[in-house]
Amino acid sequence: IPVEPFDFIAFGGTGDLAERKLLPALYQRQRAGQFTEPTRIIGTSRAKMTHKEYREFAKKAISDHVKANEIDAQELETFIARLHYVSADGKTGEGFDAIKKQVGDSDRIRVFYMAVAPALFGDIAKHLKGSGLICQNSRIVVEKPIGRDLASAQALNDQIGSYFDEHQIFRIDHYLGKETVQNLMALRFANMLYEPLWNSAHIDHVQITVAETVGLEDRIGYYDKAGALRDMVQNHILQLLCLVAMEAPSSMDADAVRDEKLKVLRSLKRINGQEAPKMTVRGQYRAGASAGGAVKGYQEELGAQSTTETFVAIKAEIENWRWAGVPFYLRTGKRLATRVSEIVIEFKHIPHSIFGDNAGRILANQLVIRLQPDEGVKQWIMIKDPGPGGMRLRNIALDMSFAQSFQERNPDAYERLVMDVVRGNQTLFMRRDEVEAAWKWIDPIQGAWAENLQETQGYTSGTWGPSSAIALIERDGRTWHEST
Ligand code: BG6
Repeated sequence: IPVEPFDFIAFGGTGDLAERKLLPALYQRQRAGQFTEPTRIIGTSRAKMTHKEYREFAKKAISDHVKANEIDAQELETFIARLHYVSADGKTGEGFDAIKKQVGDSDRIRVFYMAVAPALFGDIAKHLKGSGLICQNSRIVVEKPIGRDLASAQALNDQIGSYFDEHQIFRIDHYLGKETVQNLMALRFANMLYEPLWNSAHIDHVQITVAETVGLEDRIGYYDKAGALRDMVQNHILQLLCLVAMEAPSSMDADAVRDEKLKVLRSLKRINGQEAPKMTVRGQYRAGASAGGAVKGYQEELGAQSTTETFVAIKAEIENWRWAGVPFYLRTGKRLATRVSEIVIEFKHIPHSIFGDNAGRILANQLVIRLQPDEGVKQWIMIKDPGPGGMRLRNIALDMSFAQSFQERNPDAYERLVMDVVRGNQTLFMRRDEVEAAWKWIDPIQGAWAENLQETQGYTSGTWGPSSAIALIERDGRTWHEST
């Protein structure tokens, strides 16, 4: 469905995010026929560049990051013609008049995308205001990290909030734009099958794994100050946890969904200093082998000593009626054995078996929601082994693979999210109170770690993290789901 014409102003328009995600996503939406005239995309950064040079930059970004068979020469030309470039300094405000000139006085939808370091958000917002660029139809999109703890998140939210209303602020968490993540809502609330069982009476525990094989990449400045807890758990993993655990919202309306997620965040049991060593594991990768080659350890890559964690495992608990007594085991890390993100819902064991010992072990049903790669949903069930050999039972998966079931291309999360910003739909964006509630839970864990109550444990690259992460779940008589 085509959207109204808009002006998209990308701060950090020559940066990594613009190159890898924003420009390719916008191009795909052009190709899908969603843009109407006179939609414009204005890249801005401190670099001096002509419109022509920026268009060349964008062309290269698209040819590097979009599959060759998805590049349509005609659409690419139309898209490139929408691009403009203005050099501006977010810190000093120099060049903002030129942005204003470029945009003109129209009351078209205006999206200001902050693909820059959060330290600049406040200054940019101030200069946008000062140059008269903020109108009723303006929206600001901010990327994480939104703060590094509750206090800094509040300060950042205050800063942005003094220039934009909450309904104009889009805090992006790109996990919410992933197809399978949205499917989690469809699975839960468009089917009768699961919801009656979705509680502590029938579910034994939940696992959320976001495993990566990449290492530090070239993000030294940011990553070593953040670590995996801030980089992945505070946002992506807690958002996934919320979607699994929330009550049915009254509708898909943004505040209805976000109210329910907020309740989950507020029900998370606080993990304080004494409990942190029992409920959390922090790890850091050492040299090893990953994706078929030898790789360096984190500190060698960094070129400095560091206790920053590249792996986290947490046993989280939700203190409410639905989930009391159901642990949520969370884990994420870099340089792990394989790249996989998935949510596993493990149901309880049947109360009694009528089949006798020869039937084999009756396993608990698992629902596995695979976010990436190979997106899909698998429901494991026990069936009778075929053949006349008597009643032998076997665990098999009802397997719904998106690639096999649908011909459509799986769009990148940014495509959906960027268009939601233009449409003004905040359902898949984090509200201020959500972000702050998440920090409130993270801060005591980070605090315990900072006091060195708990060491960062080394793990060999290419494994599943420190052995204590395995112990974290096995001492409860459970095991991590083996992703294949
Ligand atoms: C980002 C983190 O938010 O998500 C990165 O900062 C991480 O450290 C990335 O690699 C993972 O995203 P995806 O979409 O590749 O799973």
